[in-house]
Amino acid sequence: MDPLSLIYPGIGSEEPFYRLVEHFYAGVEASAILRPLYPKDLTEAKSKLAKYLIYRTGGSQAYVEERGHPRMRGRHMPFKIGVPERDAWMESMNKALDQTPEFAPYRADLDAFFEHFSTFMINQPQ
Ligand code: HEM
Repeated sequence: MDPLSLIYPGIGSEEPFYRLVEHFYAGVEASAILRPLYPKDLTEAKSKLAKYLIYRTGGSQAYVEERGHPRMRGRHMPFKIGVPERDAWMESMNKALDQTPEFAPYRADLDAFFEHFSTFMINQPQ
């Protein structure tokens, strides 16, 4: 059993995921490393990340219906992601998780997932 797939059913609504993503992108907007990678208008980026996280944690399949198979590493290839970008991304996500109490019971599994996944997105030699 994938422990991540128990998170959405445990939380039980999409609203905390959208709140998490708002906090995360506030961190992106404040980051000199991350901000230039993202489009000027973050509306779509917010919606994609929220839907992906809802899908990945056992909620609605809307992400896959709209975007197809995640292929996350391939989707990140257009962006230069080295250790500094990865660390900035993790810092922003960790702060967002700290600010969204609904995720507290699932932090160990989420921290392990994001730690692994963000490292996997690195596509630049150092
Ligand atoms: C390691 C550092 C990372 C950086 C610098 C990064 C950066 C980006 C950028 C610039 C985009 C494009 C946004 C847009 O055009 O709308 C993107 C898309 C996305 N990222 Fe990341 N990302 C990182 C890690 C992650 C991780 C760990 C996850 C999930 C756990 C993730 C999930 C997503 C999703 C779901 C999309 C939208 C893909 C799509 O459907 O097109 N990213 N990311």
